[in-house]
Amino acid sequence: MSTTADPRLLGRAVRRVVYTKEAIAQRVQELGDEITAAYSDGELLVLGLLKGSFIFLSDLVRDIRRPLQVDFLVASSYGDGTESSGNVRLLYDPETELEGKHILLVEDIVDTGRTLSRLMDLLRARNPRSLEICALLHKHIATELRYPTRFLGFDAPNEFLVGYGLDHAENFRHLPYIASLQ
Ligand code: IMP
Ligand code: MG
Repeated sequence: MSTTADPRLLGRAVRRVVYTKEAIAQRVQELGDEITAAYSDGELLVLGLLKGSFIFLSDLVRDIRRPLQVDFLVASSYGDGTESSGNVRLLYDPETELEGKHILLVEDIVDTGRTLSRLMDLLRARNPRSLEICALLHKHIATELRYPTRFLGFDAPNEFLVGYGLDHAENFRHLPYIASLQ
């Protein structure tokens, strides 16, 4: 694929395509199978962390072959404005009851894991039946993530990635592949 000719790119070149549309589709289907097998009973609520997870989540839930519900979280970290303080505030809180349900928190990419750790603390306090993380990508440099990523798409290179939901300054989320920016 000639990415430099892609009209979606604002005329910018990408360094390389890291995961093709086909590779992503294949892996998402496998993740769907893993998740289907992992939840044999009970109510499953798939919680997408916006905005980054919106494309991944919409593909993933169609590959989970059991009853489930979908909701989203919008989180914001706040602090002194220059560096994340690690405090997390929910701008949108799921309306569904979490107690007694299997909760699967879906994230696009784990970098420092700071937001995710705080969110997991917050969700755990609502007494779900189980609480797990599903991430499409993991940079494995996370120093602050106190929870394992139970379901993982790919081990990501330590490069800035865009596409398939991932943005740079809100651009490039709609690329059907994942690319590394120059
Ligand atoms: P963390 O709290 O440091 O793990 O940050 C995770 C969030 O940072 C993700 O949900 C993304 O929004 C963003 N992020 C981290 N790495 C990348 C990247 O390579 N490309 C685009 N967004 C990223
Ligand atoms: Mg982002």
